[in-house]
Amino acid sequence: MKLAFEKSSLNANTADAIAVFLHGDKSLFSSEIVALVRQLGVRIPAADRGDFTGKEGESMVLYVPHARQTRRYVLVGLGERKKLSLERYRRSGAVAAKCARSLKAESLAMFVPLVATEFQSVVSALAEGAFLALYKFDKYISKKSDSPPNLQTITVCAESSARVKQGIQAVRWTKTICEATYLARELANAPGNEIYPQTLAEAAKLSAERCGYTAKILDEREIKEAGMGGVLGVSQGSVHPPRFVILEYGKKQKRPVVLVGKGVTFDTGGISIKPSAGMAEMKMDMSGAAAVIGAFDAVARLKLPVHIVGLIPIVENMPSGSSIRPGDIIRHHNGKTSEVDNTDAEGRLILADALAFAEKFKPAAVIDLATLTGACVVALGHHASGMLGNDASLMTKLKRAGESTYERVWQLPLYDEYEKLIKSDVADVKNVGGRWAGTITAAWFLKKFIGSYKWVHLDIAGTAMLEEDGDYTQKGASGVGVRLLTEFLRRWK
Ligand code: BES
Ligand code: MN
Ligand code: ZN
Repeated sequence: MKLAFEKSSLNANTADAIAVFLHGDKSLFSSEIVALVRQLGVRIPAADRGDFTGKEGESMVLYVPHARQTRRYVLVGLGERKKLSLERYRRSGAVAAKCARSLKAESLAMFVPLVATEFQSVVSALAEGAFLALYKFDKYISKKSDSPPNLQTITVCAESSARVKQGIQAVRWTKTICEATYLARELANAPGNEIYPQTLAEAAKLSAERCGYTAKILDEREIKEAGMGGVLGVSQGSVHPPRFVILEYGKKQKRPVVLVGKGVTFDTGGISIKPSAGMAEMKMDMSGAAAVIGAFDAVARLKLPVHIVGLIPIVENMPSGSSIRPGDIIRHHNGKTSEVDNTDAEGRLILADALAFAEKFKPAAVIDLATLTGACVVALGHHASGMLGNDASLMTKLKRAGESTYERVWQLPLYDEYEKLIKSDVADVKNVGGRWAGTITAAWFLKKFIGSYKWVHLDIAGTAMLEEDGDYTQKGASGVGVRLLTEFLRRWK
């Protein structure tokens, strides 16, 4: 998909579909319609009759005969001006793009509303919504539902030439982030027979070579040497040996931000096997890993002035004669032991090794992302990731980045009282904490393995795997975390 910015005027533009955004407030709407009528030289009866009013999400196609061919204008409602937000612009961009796709337009021009303030952010939001809305996981479908022609070019347009430079910059930035989000979605949507530890590690390597950062892959022997008992234990029931990927980008003078991603390429639950209904979703149990790879992809291509390290433990959790058993005791990278009460609480076992390993990088901060608990989906549904950690200011930074990208996070408490729920009689800690507060006890388990650094855990179980289409997300993998982390790192000192 080509994404561009261009100075252009409405009646000179020749794209296959031209999107115009209109506000829902009565007076603003009428003046915008008057201006549109003047520029296009036609009346708009649908507006006269109140069939199109500029409500949020509303759209209408207008056919206007022009010199050589009839042009298609897609009118998109932005809703009330005082309720406008970047998220509304994203959604409006998505409406425009999906409409253009259904019209079989090959090119779409989107005109930035004249009254838009924060020009660069609005350009980005429109482009982002449009780009992300067009994602489809269809590489395994032989006969595509969309026959050509397909939408190939999206151009954000403004009439004034004063801001062309800003517009070009905004679009370039957005395209990079959207492509990285696509990568995360592709990796997470890919089935378990395509993406397993070896191939996920190779995908990270490929991104590293393409974008200019480094990826070191530890194999099973090296994982053993590093004493990562959690990674070894969880993977021992699978025919696919584990991998541990270490990514690094940026100047080493600065203490790094370490990003940790859960990479369970398929989670059957192991011996504590999951019910079969819905188990297929567990091909996305490496969404944390995908987010970290996607964030590195974007940050490296954007050449952000940060130092980051990525740690990705990758395993497949399978039941077999060689699987770990309930009751087994594991020794992790930092020497601490855990009792495996339930083999389906495998994510924390592999993250424990990664979080302990992170200490040697003397991190300025550590952020882990994991599809860790069903309890988080019960608590927050699909619209916010659970956030727990030991540093309020780091959490505030993530909260702000979450609000601006709309990959929102919501803090849950890590009170001391919860700690005893994961007490073990036979090891340093137990990997499950009983029925209640599952997201919190999981985070408490992780907390037992962190070093002396500032740490935030993001439980993305609900936000990474979606049950239905959204405005610019699709059923399946959302690629959540890529935009959040990139925005967080853009603001990092
Ligand atoms: N990968 C799952 C968590 C999950 C569940 C993600 C549903 C997305 C949707 C994780 O490994 C898991 O199985 N967690 C268990 C923990 C329990 C055994 C303490 C869970 O949430 O049921
Ligand atoms: Mn599990
Ligand atoms: Zn899992």
